[in-house]
Amino acid sequence: MTSQACSDKAHLMDFSLIEKAADLLVRAKHAVVLTGAGISTESGVPDFRSPGGIWERYDPTLFFYARFIAEPDVVWKCLIEMNTSGAMSLWDAKPNKGHQALSAMEHMGIIKVVITQNIDNLHQKAGSRNVIEFHGNMLVFKCLKCGRTYGYEQLLEIIAGCACLPPLCECGGVLKPDAVFFGEAIPQGALKESFQHAQDCDLMLVIGTSAQIEPAASLPIVAKGMHSMFRGLGNLVPKGDCHVIEINREPTPLSNEVSDFLIQGSAGEILSCITDMVREKRP
Ligand code: APR
Repeated sequence: MTSQACSDKAHLMDFSLIEKAADLLVRAKHAVVLTGAGISTESGVPDFRSPGGIWERYDPTLFFYARFIAEPDVVWKCLIEMNTSGAMSLWDAKPNKGHQALSAMEHMGIIKVVITQNIDNLHQKAGSRNVIEFHGNMLVFKCLKCGRTYGYEQLLEIIAGCACLPPLCECGGVLKPDAVFFGEAIPQGALKESFQHAQDCDLMLVIGTSAQIEPAASLPIVAKGMHSMFRGLGNLVPKGDCHVIEINREPTPLSNEVSDFLIQGSAGEILSCITDMVREKRP
């Protein structure tokens, strides 16, 4: 799609803001991206808090760590139902043009890293190499007893082998999806690396997140050099200029408070337009 084709879609999105975002990205020295469930809705994976979202259809208390430890069979039954009913078929989802645009901008050297709250592996499937999985990955399964990990195909074999739930490791331990459940710690490496990028970046693209869940919601605040409840994460030093650009169908708590501007509309359309413009503008 050329920027001409983008401008033909100006009624769908604010073209001048798209141009501004492309200019800032081309000039950025350390551009990072924070994504949420909104970038995957165009792949048929519903988000959590929009009307018809996952938390309207499934009981979020099922995804507390303590609940999984207490009733792994109940939680597994729900997970399998989510995937087989198509309500949230993470396991077969395909990346969309939003994921592909970010992968293209990484390959052009425009963006350094994608910090994702998503557990769907779609950035990696789109070819992104530097992806920080802030909330883990739902396509990897870890034994709670010996720590051994299994891939999705191996899990399917285990489930096919014995219809009983929860699926078990060879050591007899319970397998848990390697995604961060509520009440579970963010992987230390992902936490430190993400806050360091937020500290060092001069541009952060915030895409498809309602910015309500901590500590991820603090990353744009740190990027902006504003105070954050996570000051304890290493010594935060005053920051130089950093642009925070939001892409979302609707405003979030960051809009007009933390982000410089919001480009309202569908992430896939907007990101492909920005990427085409970056391709044309970069030296
Ligand atoms: N294009 C742009 N924005 C979109 C699109 C789209 N196609 N689809 C949805 N959105 C926006 C919604 O307007 C909303 O602001 O994406 C956001 C999704 O918000 P949430 O459902 O709250 O998802 P997220 O912010 O990623 O949730 C954070 O909460 O439930 C936990 O662990 C889970 O990682 C998740 C975390």
